[in-house]
Parts: sequence; structure tokens; C-alpha cells
Amino acid sequence: MNDVPRDLPMHPLVEEPEAGRYAWCACGRSAKGVHCDGSHKDTEIRPVKIELEGGRKVAWCQCRLTKNPPFCDGSHKA
Ligand code: FES
Repeated sequence: MNDVPRDLPMHPLVEEPEAGRYAWCACGRSAKGVHCDGSHKDTEIRPVKIELEGGRKVAWCQCRLTKNPPFCDGSHKA
């Protein structure tokens, strides 16, 4: 992705989020990590919105190299 900082964690964030709507930060600038805080507004990058049912672990991509956003697909190892 264009303009994504490269000092991002090169591993997923694994957690079990509550049910609800989430906006994954695709620009890598959010002060809230993988969760959008609006910092993309001066870029052409937009967050990925998703609704989760809860009760399941997810592996959020933190490196922003995934081909399956918002989830880790192992691309951080490349
Ligand atoms: S953290 Fe694994 S693909 Fe981004």
C-alpha cells in the first residue's frame, strides 16, 4: 500500500474482540494500532470496515502487507 510507514510491528495482533463493528487501520498511522482513529484523512487509504460476531480469536494484520485485510495472512514473513 502507498504511504504506509514501515516501522510497523511485523507480526499479527491476536485477540478475541467483542461482537461489534470495527474499522481496521490500513494506513498504519493510527495511534490506536490496528483500529482506525481517522489519521488516514490526508491519504488515499481508507480503513477496512468489518462486523465481528465475537467469541472467536482474530489475528489482526499489523504490518499492513496482508492480501486479506484486516487479517494476517502470513505476508509479514516475506
Ligand atoms: S501481520 Fe501478518 S500479514 Fe501483516
